[in-house]
Amino acid sequence: MAKKDYKQLLQYLDPGKLPRHIGIIMDGNGRWAKQRNRPHLFGHQAGAKALRQVVELGVELKLEHLTFYAFSTENWNRPAEEVNGLLRLLKERLKKQIPEMMEQNIYAQFIGTAVGLDPDYWKEVSRTVEVTHQNTGMVVNFAFNYGGRLEIIDGFKKLMQSSPESLETLSPENFGAYLYTAGQPDPDLIIRTSGEYRLSNFLLWQSAYAEIYVTDTLWPDFDKLELIKALLDYAGRQRRFGGR
Ligand code: IPE
Ligand code: IPE
Ligand code: MG
Repeated sequence: MAKKDYKQLLQYLDPGKLPRHIGIIMDGNGRWAKQRNRPHLFGHQAGAKALRQVVELGVELKLEHLTFYAFSTENWNRPAEEVNGLLRLLKERLKKQIPEMMEQNIYAQFIGTAVGLDPDYWKEVSRTVEVTHQNTGMVVNFAFNYGGRLEIIDGFKKLMQSSPESLETLSPENFGAYLYTAGQPDPDLIIRTSGEYRLSNFLLWQSAYAEIYVTDTLWPDFDKLELIKALLDYAGRQRRFGGR
């Protein structure tokens, strides 16, 4: 059977039931490569295409915020060759993607820590995304050298350094202002590919009431059709936030 075009499914999507913010745990690149007897990095390379498709559809649907989990603070535990390859890939792809992101009016930024990264590398990638900071469209966060627990600790340190007196009035409602995602709505939907049912330290604070969608599809095979399926599933969810 021919692969269904995503546009056929698009008509069933109620624009009023779209998430404002989607977080995506892009997992399964290694398994995808293994199935093809190729090195792990080949899977990461292939994953870049899926990311472009999701961004494209995000723009089409006028989503407000997308967050991609690209490299976790725990991913340093991988072989140096893979880590270095991933860092290189991220820098190269990002540079290549900038003209398109400018056309798409995308505001791109990193969320994560500079700690552990070569300062020159960090400066270079930060400068690369800075050119998008005049854009007013969809916000795309690249969670890179990101860990949810570290983000919470970093946030608390920021608060103590900038305004220790705020400790008195600190609350679940205002703490978000100290996180890497300050000013952005919490994710409504977290998508994880490759059939793993865990958060792996992703947006721990912000995901408190996120809907979670797991698909067996490996990240390099994820595309617009897959995203629509996730969005249709989300649209059918009943969110209660603890109420009745
Ligand atoms: C996810 O793919 C991408 C990153 C962690 C950067 P994996 O590399 O974890 O792929 P699997 O889980 O081994 O298949
Ligand atoms: C989560 O995937 C991190 C990213 C997608 C960047 P992992 O493959 O690192 O997660 P675990 O180790 O299976 O939990
Ligand atoms: Mg994995």
